[in-house]
Amino acid sequence: ARQKSTNVVWESTAITREQRERRNGHRAAVLWFTGLSGSGKSTVARKLEQRLYAMGCQTMYLDGDNVRHGLNGDLGFSPEDRKENIRRVAEVARLSFEHGNLTLCTFISPYRADRDFARSLLPHGRFVEIYVKCDLEVCKRRDPKGLYARALRGEIPEFTGVSSPYEEPESPEIVVETDVQSVDDIVNYIVEELTRRGILE
Ligand code: PPS
Repeated sequence: ARQKSTNVVWESTAITREQRERRNGHRAAVLWFTGLSGSGKSTVARKLEQRLYAMGCQTMYLDGDNVRHGLNGDLGFSPEDRKENIRRVAEVARLSFEHGNLTLCTFISPYRADRDFARSLLPHGRFVEIYVKCDLEVCKRRDPKGLYARALRGEIPEFTGVSSPYEEPESPEIVVETDVQSVDDIVNYIVEELTRRGILE
């Protein structure tokens, strides 16, 4: 229904994803981190990206807060805006994937349907949903940006976990628990899982 671009064709690049993957020495994939605000999505993804970079991998990193400063600066936090937020970044992630990158995405992405949409854009096995699990009470206590305090005072409407829902993933590829495991252990575990899944060699 939203497709208004007619009479356009898909121009494929002269270099295939497979060629890029061969040269990079790893497969392309989208690593989709989902979880509550303050659960540690960015902390884990940043550390993982450093590790992947050190291994010689080609990476790209898309983060909610950052994308909302530019590309998605016109969107708020209503269910419709979150859906559009995820739709756009999922499309960007797909483009990045086609360029052979290990694409790390950190978005609360609270709705299952939106995450499933992102998954639907990629070939089987190339969308790796990583649930960054953390008890809501722990997130509230951490409150790195002071947003929970403000939301609890009623100053931020539709705040995830306070006045807006978070739908837990039902069958994510990877689950990590930041209120139980250390960041280093989590990064090691994700690297092992990516290797086991044939994404890393
Ligand atoms: S979503 O739900 O996927 O569209 O959200 P995302 O793009 O990841 O943006 C989440 C960051 O925006 C800040 N913020 C809010 N989060 C949730 N609810 C409301 N109402 C809200 N308002 C602002 C917050 O800093 C989130 O960052 P993280 O890193 O997740 O804490």
